[in-house]
Amino acid sequence: MDGFHDLATVYYALDLHDELRVHDRDDARIVLTVTGSQPGLHRLPVDGRNLVVQAAQMLADRFAPGRGADVVLHKDIPLTAGLAGGSSDAAATLVACNALWGLALEPADLLPIAAELGSDVPFCLLGGAVLGTGRGEVVTPLPVSGVHHWVLVLADCGLSTPAMFAALDHARDHGTAAPPTTTVPANLLSALAAGDVAGIGAAMTNDLEPVALAALPSLARVLETARAAGAAGALVSGSGPTCAVLAADAESADRIAVVLRAARVGRQIVVTTGPALGARID
Ligand code: C5P
Repeated sequence: MDGFHDLATVYYALDLHDELRVHDRDDARIVLTVTGSQPGLHRLPVDGRNLVVQAAQMLADRFAPGRGADVVLHKDIPLTAGLAGGSSDAAATLVACNALWGLALEPADLLPIAAELGSDVPFCLLGGAVLGTGRGEVVTPLPVSGVHHWVLVLADCGLSTPAMFAALDHARDHGTAAPPTTTVPANLLSALAAGDVAGIGAAMTNDLEPVALAALPSLARVLETARAAGAAGALVSGSGPTCAVLAADAESADRIAVVLRAARVGRQIVVTTGPALGARID
C-alpha cells in the first residue's frame, strides 16, 4: 500500500496549453521564471516545490550531470483547477531539456521519469486520449475519432486531490460509494473510437464526482445547468473542481457557454476542443 489508489481512467487532452522556453546555463542550477496573467500566478512556487524544477533536476541528475537551465514558463492553463497544468509543465520540461541538453532520449526513456514526478505526467507526455491504470501512471493510448467540443466551468476555489480520495475511501468504507473498478466502461471506449459524441457523453462517469459534489455543492448546479442547456454529457473532471461539459458541436458549445455565463456559475467558462497533442516542441 503506497497511499495511492489503483484506478482505471480515461485521460483526455484538451487544447489548452502553457508555453515553456529553456536556455542553457553555465552552472548546474535550474532557474524558473513564470509569466502570464492567470489568477494566483504569484503564489506559484518557483523553487524545488515546482514540478518544472523537479523534472529538469531529475533529468539532469540521471542523464546530464552538471547541466543547468533557465526555464521561462508562460502559464495559460488555469491554476488550481485540477486540469493537470503542473503535470503538463513537467512533461514539457522533460521534452524541452531532453532537446536542450542533446540527450536524444526516447519517449520510452522519459515515461518512467514522468511517472516518478506524478501520476498524471506520463499522460501529459502522450496527449490524445489515454487509458491510465496503476495509480494513473501506466498509460495506453486509445483510438479516438473526430474533434470534440468542450466547455469547462472553473470553480471559485480549489479542491484537494488527496482530500477527495480520502473522502472516497471513507464513503467506500461505509458502503455509500461503489467499490473500485479496474476497468473503464467498454461503451466509453467504443464511443471514443467511433467518434460518437452522444455515446461519449452518456458513458462518461467519475467515481470521485459524488465526493466532489459533497465538498462543493455548487457544482451540482453547474452540471444541471449544462445538461438543461443541451450538453451531450457533463461531469466533474478528475478530483474537481472543474466541470467538463461535452457539446454535440461547436455551435452547441457556444450556446451552452452563453447559458452557463448567464447563470453565473463558476468563475470562468472556457470553450475548447480535443483531443489535443501532448508535450511537444514547436
Ligand atoms: O501523483 P500525484 O503526486 O499527482 O498525486 C497527488 C496526490 O493525489 C497523491 O499524494 C495522493 O494523495 C492522491 N492520489 C491517489 N491515488 C492516485 C493518484 C493520486 O490517492 N491514483
